[in-house]
Amino acid sequence: MDSILVKGNGALNGQIPIAGAKNACLTLMPATLLSEEPLTLTNAPRLSDIRTMTQLLQSLGVEVSPLQAGKVITMSSHAEINPLADYEIVRKMRASNLVLGPLLARLGHAVVSLPGGCAIGARPMDIHIDALTALGAEIDLRDGYLHAVARGGLKGAVHEMRLASVGATENFVMAATLAKGNSVLKNAAREPEIVDLVACLRKMGAQIEGEGTSTITIQGVDRLHGATHPVVTDRIELGTYMLAPAICGGEVELLGGRLHLVGAFAEKLDEAGVAVVETERGLKVSRKNGRVQAVNVTTEPFPGFPTDLQAQMMALLCTANGVSVLEEKIFENRFMHAPELIRMGARIDVHGGTATVTGVEKLKGARVMATDLRASVSLILAALAAEGETVVSRVYHLDRGYERVEEKLSACGALIERISA
Ligand code: UD1
Repeated sequence: MDSILVKGNGALNGQIPIAGAKNACLTLMPATLLSEEPLTLTNAPRLSDIRTMTQLLQSLGVEVSPLQAGKVITMSSHAEINPLADYEIVRKMRASNLVLGPLLARLGHAVVSLPGGCAIGARPMDIHIDALTALGAEIDLRDGYLHAVARGGLKGAVHEMRLASVGATENFVMAATLAKGNSVLKNAAREPEIVDLVACLRKMGAQIEGEGTSTITIQGVDRLHGATHPVVTDRIELGTYMLAPAICGGEVELLGGRLHLVGAFAEKLDEAGVAVVETERGLKVSRKNGRVQAVNVTTEPFPGFPTDLQAQMMALLCTANGVSVLEEKIFENRFMHAPELIRMGARIDVHGGTATVTGVEKLKGARVMATDLRASVSLILAALAAEGETVVSRVYHLDRGYERVEEKLSACGALIERISA
């Protein structure tokens, strides 16, 4: 298993290009099942999660061209589609559940494995099941698989989700595009990746309004056609690299970054003493004065502070002046990075969903272990600001969501290298 070696080396200066969003790509890819004509995605990120979705779609009978140098994925679902999403692939990635809605819309039935345990909490499927049941599907759980059938096809319906789940919103919207009649989803999630999915579905001929708000209306159509769509910028990769100059000093421009993707996060950085300026090409980030100040953070659905940036923000607050309180409201077990940061000299107390961080002047290099995707990059950020050497092991988590992390950071002066096992 590969690890990453980081030597704390002071300020970072330069530019980092931000890739297309993993989470947008993972919902745009299954949308290909909704049409027999090809769907082409440009600006797709090169990540292991995208390879997993490619494998899953291929197992369903979709032709997927391998990701090319131009970051283009072309998919075609013209052949016969198989309704079974097998456990062996689904268990690798929860986002595999995003084939459920499109398969039901396309075939009227689907058999999709439950994703199984996840390191950051229980992550059940009840909201997805309720949403698709509202559209007329009957769904039972047998042998670890969801067996879904829509006798006579899906029918438009008004449905309110008990909680604004991102994935359930995506499944409902995709399924409703081909349902008979009108559908309205209330308490819908508002994330930019959903707005991007709707933009693509609209190019495919879907009739949808209200994306980016809590009420999405979908008028079912008989068929969708092919399209070409650029994947939106990855706001989580963007936020992660915005933290690099915040934690190390220096000035970094994040190419392709836009403020509206990271509003609540940029406001917190501003409060902590980090300047974020929109430029023609992206966002420029630097500290306003010396050491950053402690701030309190509560994770919320978009447009609030994203849970996917909580671990990275904690790395910054470990060296801030004062005491910060981080409240995790989306996932119940998402502080697994805290014990690893403590190994680097951080002062963190975790009680349930709240972590209290008392800033220290300097972190110290150590051997640490990545426990999930965002936790792994938080350890790299902390290591950049620490004295001495840090080795982060289990970096396969990192490769699920960050492309060429070593190259991007070394281009700004970081001393970071991958050690292949
Ligand atoms: C998506 C993102 C993930 C991000 C999360 C929250 C993708 C591929 N992943 O995950 O990176 O951390 O949004 O911003 O886009 N829940 C239920 N029942 C359900 C579904 C969800 O109780 O049926 C709960 C979850 O356990 C969690 C909360 O709802 O506590 C939010 O989850 P959800 O918005 O569904 O996250 P994902 O779509 O899985």
